[in-house]
Amino acid sequence: MEKKKLSLRDLSDWKEQSRKIKMITAYDYPMAALVDQSPMDMILVGDSLGMVVLGYESTVPVTMEEMIHHTRAVMRGARNTFVVADLPFMSYQVSSKEALRNAGRLVKEGGADAVKLEGGSSVAETVRAMVSAGIPVMGHLGLTPQTATMLGGLKVQGKDEAAARTILSDARLLEEAGAFALVLEAIPAQLAELVTSRLSIPTIGIGAGAGCDGQVLVLHDILGLFQRFTPKFAKRYADLAPTITDALSSYCDEVDGGQFPAKEHIFSMKPDVLSSLEAE
Ligand code: KIV
Repeated sequence: MEKKKLSLRDLSDWKEQSRKIKMITAYDYPMAALVDQSPMDMILVGDSLGMVVLGYESTVPVTMEEMIHHTRAVMRGARNTFVVADLPFMSYQVSSKEALRNAGRLVKEGGADAVKLEGGSSVAETVRAMVSAGIPVMGHLGLTPQTATMLGGLKVQGKDEAAARTILSDARLLEEAGAFALVLEAIPAQLAELVTSRLSIPTIGIGAGAGCDGQVLVLHDILGLFQRFTPKFAKRYADLAPTITDALSSYCDEVDGGQFPAKEHIFSMKPDVLSSLEAE
């Protein structure tokens, strides 16, 4: 049976039924096509692409053009999977008008089903404007990598009472503003569970424990394709880097040793055509 693309209605029904949402990042056509063949419910074209596929030090340099380019590639592979695209740093902070225009670009030019942005009270009005314009919005609280410098680095958030209260109230504000779901990144599991129980929209955790309504991870972390570092919360389900480097070494060895290309990889011509060429 062909996989059916998730709807926003399904998402709220799933919360009531305690059915878990599974989400993974993807940034290009071949990976999106593989994710599409899996039982995954949602794809995030995360601005983590800046680090894991473009080699930047952080997500900060990622541009709208890069997000649109990668979202379009993902959409060509993800035919039956709901796709959320990240709004990159400074594409939504200057004004609600600019934010709305950029969110519209991710949907119109990129083809995304929804957009995601980081922050709480400071973006609530912007979320409201996008939702009023008909753009589904996912929020992102806790560790917000675009502003990690302000948060003291890529660190767990919401550990003390004041910080935990801010996350709780920001979560409510985003829900009221019309966000359809919230990513909770790197916060204590107990806090994530509390936020989840207080909201009617689903929470999707990354480093936020099992009490969320769903989970999201970075594809390159779970496949062992990003070698600079692996966050504590990311489980590695495969170790593809050595498989790839082994395959590349074998190719090089076989070219050097003359085993590649073999008979089955070459094209031949008719002997009489060859003789005629050789006769000249
Ligand atoms: O960009 C990203 O991959 C994300 C996830 C970490 C949720 O925002």
